[in-house]
Amino acid sequence: MTKKLIAAIDTPELARAQELVAAVAPHCGLVKLGLEFFLRHGPQGFAQAAQGRNVFLDLKLHDIPNTVAGAVRSLLPLGADMLTIHASGGAKMVEAAAKAAAEGAKSPKILAVTVLTSLDASALAETGVAGGPAQQVLRLARLALANGADGLVCSAHEISRLRDAFGDKPILVVPGIRPVGAALGDQARVMTPEEAVAAGADYIVVGRPITGAANPAEAAAAIAASIR
Ligand code: C5P
Repeated sequence: MTKKLIAAIDTPELARAQELVAAVAPHCGLVKLGLEFFLRHGPQGFAQAAQGRNVFLDLKLHDIPNTVAGAVRSLLPLGADMLTIHASGGAKMVEAAAKAAAEGAKSPKILAVTVLTSLDASALAETGVAGGPAQQVLRLARLALANGADGLVCSAHEISRLRDAFGDKPILVVPGIRPVGAALGDQARVMTPEEAVAAGADYIVVGRPITGAANPAEAAAAIAASIR
């Protein structure tokens, strides 16, 4: 078991989510539920899947500040440990989310997503952002951290630049992780669990190498052992 491992439970099926959470929870610090699950099953399904475990609720909120603050308040009763927002919503939106989170009896950590890893330089340019992803990641990370975000979701390849720029304090949560020999799926630039933790990740997010394994509990245990 290691607190640093977050297992992504990416399924729209409640029974499958419950089965996966029960299998992997003994080996990881948190389970991650996202849009695919939450939009189908809502708060009730969240509680049924979470079974009292620590949860990273990855909804990547992005709207005007007042609406995002309201969304965070609506999520507070669930007791999630981490919530995601898009840093590109702007300084006031990040600040509104962080303030709303602080109103909870248990305040979830607010993690900012900077540039989606699905956007390469040309896709980003199409949205009007010149200068490329690396520069935009730093710009949005600075904005998010200066306005109350507790940390960032980032690619393993961005960790060292972010640590150089912002030090040890921001929580860095890193998806795009593949144990040696695992299928890449649609992830292009990956690191192994050991490499990402050595580079300075506080948490690694692992989905298909666990959920697609014949034995998800064993797969989670092996990844946990590799970074303990
Ligand atoms: O299956 P896999 O390990 O690729 O899953 C990674 C998880 O992390 C998925 O839930 C995916 O949505 C999420 N994620 C990602 N890249 C980001 C942000 C989140 O892969 N930049």
